[in-house]
Amino acid sequence: MTHTKRSKVKKLLSSSEEKSHVLLKGWVRTRRDSKGGFSFLEINDGSCMKNIQVILNHSDPCFLENDDKLTTGSCVAVEGRLVRSQGSGQAMEVQVEHLRVYGTADREKYPLQKKRHSFEFLREIAHLRPRTNTFGAVMRVRNRLAYSIHRFFQDRGFIYLHTPIITTSDCEGAGEMFQVTTLDLAQPPMNQGKVIYEEDFFGEKTHLTVSGQLEGEVYALAFSEIYTFGPTFRAENSNTSRHLAEFWMVEPEMAFCELDDNMDLAEEFVRFLFRDALEHCAEDLEFFDQRIYKGLIENHRQIVDCTFERVTYTDAIHILDKSNEPFVYNVEWGCNLQSEHERYLSEQYFRKPVIVYNYPEEIKPFYMKINEGGETVRAMDVLLPHLGEIIGGSQREDDYEILGNRMKKKDLKPENYSWYLDLRRYGSAPHSGFGLGFERLVQFVTGMENIRDVIPFPRTPKHAKF
Ligand code: 4AD
Ligand code: MG
Repeated sequence: MTHTKRSKVKKLLSSSEEKSHVLLKGWVRTRRDSKGGFSFLEINDGSCMKNIQVILNHSDPCFLENDDKLTTGSCVAVEGRLVRSQGSGQAMEVQVEHLRVYGTADREKYPLQKKRHSFEFLREIAHLRPRTNTFGAVMRVRNRLAYSIHRFFQDRGFIYLHTPIITTSDCEGAGEMFQVTTLDLAQPPMNQGKVIYEEDFFGEKTHLTVSGQLEGEVYALAFSEIYTFGPTFRAENSNTSRHLAEFWMVEPEMAFCELDDNMDLAEEFVRFLFRDALEHCAEDLEFFDQRIYKGLIENHRQIVDCTFERVTYTDAIHILDKSNEPFVYNVEWGCNLQSEHERYLSEQYFRKPVIVYNYPEEIKPFYMKINEGGETVRAMDVLLPHLGEIIGGSQREDDYEILGNRMKKKDLKPENYSWYLDLRRYGSAPHSGFGLGFERLVQFVTGMENIRDVIPFPRTPKHAKF
């Protein structure tokens, strides 16, 4: 083979002119042999949804040498002429002059032989599923969304902050944390029935973070506006289509920002992400619209064009109460909104994204700013039709005394959070932020039913092998 620079399939397919010499590399998706003495291979290299067709002449030595090895799943390098396609279905194709097989894939054993496999089956082969159309599309959309998240915040002057993964604090106060330890679990050092954490790696009990928010607040109160975008962990035993034990969260945190401004930003952010996906992932979204979720693109356009509904928790409870819907979970003031309630509000009642705000103090974490009267806090959740909660956020309590008292009320030891309280002792400021679940976003944008199918390697209860 000569030293031609490799072109990606996406570039070749969109080329406006024929080329006498191109080199492409990728994986064989299908092979078809014609009686007229030709073989047609569909090659994909992940750069786009479409495959490029390459044509081999049966009398060509490079075909005769490799015939047996050219099976679905094998990896090849192809050199030849890029020409306008005579057949329908593709603009350009490649007439092969040289071919090399990098890696074969046994016809009898390679698992991806059929055109369509169930997502459950594909989860069992997480190392091969990226070579399917659906996962190719999911991962390209995921990639674009990650890029546009950075663009959104960078264009607005937010500082990208890397918060720690190992932590001693429990941000959400729900205790659903994975412990991090180097102690020998079979024989931990004990004193009067209690583990001596002073002997553990960090000298105290540590966990994987459930949120970067608390550390985010530290930096917001110095840089004004920051955002985090990193992995978070929840040891909740929820085997649902919307929960992962390890997921990525985006958390902006803004000083000089109250609840209304926070909701404005969340709304602008979600709309921006959908608009960007419509613009830059058109081919992949077309696929999802046809194969995964009919009407997806139209739904996204509506989200981009509409104003989100804003309703207080109290009004939301009234609406649910009057609905006569046969909810599984009872509705009364003070209860947590369940997924069925959230979906009713956004799908049936308002028929668009909804922001519910001012939740009961009792059901929300210690850090949320208390409203006058003390019954509700300045929390907000953004709910999307068919998905439910995608964003949770709040204005933060910025009063030293009130915050300390709320910690005690929620059984947290203020002395463990002295650094967090210090932010309210030295130059405190009104501030707010929110967290967007990145996989829930990808799920919604792609229309994928199960959250396990929008992350490369899902971590769920009893599943972390690969
Ligand atoms: O509502 P959550 O728990 O909020 C927080 O963690 C705040 N500290 C965020 C903040 O104010 N900075 O989580 C935020 C979002 C949820 O709305 C949801 O989209 C996602 O994170 N999320 C999950 N995604 C996948 N699997 C799970 N187990 C999730 N738990 C939460
Ligand atoms: Mg939440």
